[in-house]
Amino acid sequence: MEALSQLVIADTLTVFNPQAPGTQSGVTLGWIVTIVCTAIFLVVAGIILFAMMRYRWREGEADPKQSAGNKTVEIVWTAIPLVIVIFLFTLTVRTMGVADPAPPADPDLVVTGHQWWWEAQYPKSGVITANEIHIPTHKPIAVLLKSADVLHEFWVAELTRKMTTVPGQPNHIWIEADTPGTYLGVCSEFCGTQHAWMRFKVIAEDPDKFDEWQKSQLQPAPEPAPATPEANGEALYRSMSCTSCHTIANKGGPAGGRVEFGPDLTHFASRLDFGSGISKNTPENLHRWLKNPQDVKPG
Ligand code: CUA
Repeated sequence: MEALSQLVIADTLTVFNPQAPGTQSGVTLGWIVTIVCTAIFLVVAGIILFAMMRYRWREGEADPKQSAGNKTVEIVWTAIPLVIVIFLFTLTVRTMGVADPAPPADPDLVVTGHQWWWEAQYPKSGVITANEIHIPTHKPIAVLLKSADVLHEFWVAELTRKMTTVPGQPNHIWIEADTPGTYLGVCSEFCGTQHAWMRFKVIAEDPDKFDEWQKSQLQPAPEPAPATPEANGEALYRSMSCTSCHTIANKGGPAGGRVEFGPDLTHFASRLDFGSGISKNTPENLHRWLKNPQDVKPG
């Protein structure tokens, strides 16, 4: 696996850097719960420690005064937890309102988990891409999550909560970014041997730039000039079995339609990575991948 280590893209995923209202509210709630629970732990552990030391058995000492059935104490120690639970419940409901409002009937984005890559479709514009999701900043994006095979889990820690993709049972989440940038997404539910290499990128950009990206993605793949390396490549692509799994929009699939078994390759060159995050999209890496994909991503 020496070859593989050179390809790996160093990216980190952190839940402590929320960049969207939904994740921000979740992280804030998490800290409040942690602080409240730590305080409860300290009080309870403190009382136990005090009782152990103050009332430990000593030679010649009688039992301490018993106070079982003291009404005031019973009421107080029932009321305090009740108030704490009501407080946390209220905060949780408010957070759910921010992080998970009701989904609209028409999603902005349909993401499908495959073994082992992600397909992204924008039903409103018709853009189809893979493993690289572009979104405009400051706009909540309604995402419909599907699975083509087994359970996967869509997770962009900085922008949204986790959600499982279930075959035959679409799920829904919202994704939003306050700051332009590139965010790492992963599959966070074990789904087979290449589960760890089911990464993707979410690129949040200013609405103008997003529109530009969308327009360029809708362009047909450029026609190569005859007798160029590009033309040879296209001939190879057609003569090998590539079209059984992949689609290039204006080049037609085996029956002229779309094949969704593998990623759509129409604008492959515009993507930063390939192999669902396993490699940077450079000519050298692509050469190695095409020569022996099993060497780069076994399975
Ligand atoms: Cu897909 Cu884990």
